[in-house]
Amino acid sequence: MLKNKDILDEKDKRLRLVSKDVTFPLSKEDLKNIDLMVEYLTNSQIERLAEKYNLRPGMGMAAIQLGIPKRYLTIVHEVGEEEFDTYIICNPKIVSNSMEKIYVEMGEGCLSVNREVDGIVPRYARVTVEGYDINGNKIRIRAREELAIAFQHEIDHLNGIMFTDYIDPKAPFKDADKYRSI
Ligand code: NI
Repeated sequence: MLKNKDILDEKDKRLRLVSKDVTFPLSKEDLKNIDLMVEYLTNSQIERLAEKYNLRPGMGMAAIQLGIPKRYLTIVHEVGEEEFDTYIICNPKIVSNSMEKIYVEMGEGCLSVNREVDGIVPRYARVTVEGYDINGNKIRIRAREELAIAFQHEIDHLNGIMFTDYIDPKAPFKDADKYRSI
């Protein structure tokens, strides 16, 4: 089981690496890591388990957050009371996006950023993501709102980009009127 300390902190320079495409079949180690990521994200969003195992709640994780510079990520999206949709995608690419942009009013969060960061991170309201499942089959996912933001946030990790990069600390809420808040 993953612990908080297994997740790289923002100060770790490995988070700035551009991760490399994976090839198939995935290694046993990568498959194991994917399981661990999904387990962490799921448990972290179930309050009693998050408390029991001392997990910080999160809905997405990219492999590089475990120090693995490979292009895969997992998202566990809560769609009901302790009900989750799980997404695992390798070599993901955003192939289309809405014109409209949105941002998380409460501020985005990241398992690698252990502090509150205020400010606007503009994201596409809707994206289509293409990539491969763990068996190397091509997949396409359409995401909107919170889920769309999660995909953009995690794909950024694969390119060494942190959400905090988008925020001007001197004017964290500038241009708020240009985007819709969620
Ligand atoms: Ni993150």
